[in-house]
Amino acid sequence: MDKLVIEGGVALRGDVHVGTAKNSVLPILAATLLTSEPCRIVDAPRLRDVNTMLRILPALGVQCERDADGSITTRVVDESISEAPYELVKTMRASVCVLGPLIGRRRRARVSFPGGCVFGPRPIDLHLKGLRALGVELDIESGYIVAHAERLRGASMYLGGAFGPTVTGTANVLMAAVLAEGVTHIHMAACEPEVQDLANFLVAMGADVRGIGTPVLEIHGVDELHGATYRPVPDRIEAGTFLAAAAITGGDVTVRSCRPEHLRAVLERLEAAGCRLEIGEDWVRCARRGRIRAADITTLPYPGFPTDLQAQFMTLLTLADGVSVVTEKVYPERFMHVAELARMRARIRKEHHIAIVEGTEFLSGAPVLASDLRASAALVMAGLVAEGETEVRRVYHIDRGYEQIEVKLAALGARIRRTEDDEGV
Ligand code: EPZ
Repeated sequence: MDKLVIEGGVALRGDVHVGTAKNSVLPILAATLLTSEPCRIVDAPRLRDVNTMLRILPALGVQCERDADGSITTRVVDESISEAPYELVKTMRASVCVLGPLIGRRRRARVSFPGGCVFGPRPIDLHLKGLRALGVELDIESGYIVAHAERLRGASMYLGGAFGPTVTGTANVLMAAVLAEGVTHIHMAACEPEVQDLANFLVAMGADVRGIGTPVLEIHGVDELHGATYRPVPDRIEAGTFLAAAAITGGDVTVRSCRPEHLRAVLERLEAAGCRLEIGEDWVRCARRGRIRAADITTLPYPGFPTDLQAQFMTLLTLADGVSVVTEKVYPERFMHVAELARMRARIRKEHHIAIVEGTEFLSGAPVLASDLRASAALVMAGLVAEGETEVRRVYHIDRGYEQIEVKLAALGARIRRTEDDEGV
């Protein structure tokens, strides 16, 4: 196991390029199950989660090759297998995204029921509700979702839950509907850029998807899909993480190869916290002089403030000149980072799905434990600004969603290195 060792106190300066979005690439790779022709995903990021998907797809009869330039080529060579095994699915919840395309193309699937994760229950009741609406017969047997469909018929459905739309639920139902007979309407569909990206990839494969980016997706089923070459959108969460790192260290960083239009809610909160922004076509420059201003954050479905940047912004607010209120409306229990930040002298009080963050003068470096992907990035950010040395252990969490984060941060001036974690955990 690795750990990251960080010596705090350096203001980050310079340019950093973000990669393509993990949460686009994962469902797009799953969507390659929908055609017998080769597909090419250009510039796919080198991440643990992508590598996990590249182990799951071959188990489902898909040959996958990673080219030197980072692109991935897929080709379905065997459609007789439709089981996504537990030992792979348990390592990554997003594997559940193979359910929709397996049913869409092979009319059957046996996918291990995805486990929860550190920030609370991760139900898939809405995924199953949407698939049943298309005529899929499914049940849970020995920890597996077992599904089959004689025919898939288009249907109209409402896919919202108590916390709003479901991103991968929309993806699963969309991928099952593109080859169904007739028209499907998904109401309360997720509008995240990554869901739009998947829909655009399906259209590039010959699907007929309308209303992309709106809460109502209209899918006209087609008989076949062909292969496609596609470059996914930039990772808005990686971009937001580097902007927050610039802010917390009092630096001046330009994040390049990003889509500012995917970051409106995040940029607005950065300005509220006292950052000076310059916004270009595919770049955002973030500089901070003077104190961080207290600012409230409420996470919401897109285009609201993303839950995947909540931990990073909470970390920024631990050094603000006042009290900030962080309200988590997507995953009410997503506060694993609070206890670890407290070890670094942050003053945060949790009240159910709300955290009250009282700004403090400084953070103090300490050994901390990474828990989930985004909380881990927040702890790295805290280490960048803390007095003294911080060790972030169980770095495999970070590697799931950030490509060489320590290399990119060191290029911006951070004193950060990756070492073996000899203490074992
Ligand atoms: C996706 O997860 C992302 N993962 C998550 O990013 C992200 O945090 C989340 O969307 C919200 O934006 C991928 O895209 C691979 P949801 P997903 O279904 O699809 C409830 C990261 O760090 N819900 O949109 O699993 C659910 O409990 C990861 O990259 C139901 O009640 O999230 C939650 O409260 C972490 N029933 C809310 O909806 C369901 O059937 C949103 O969940 C499904 C979800």
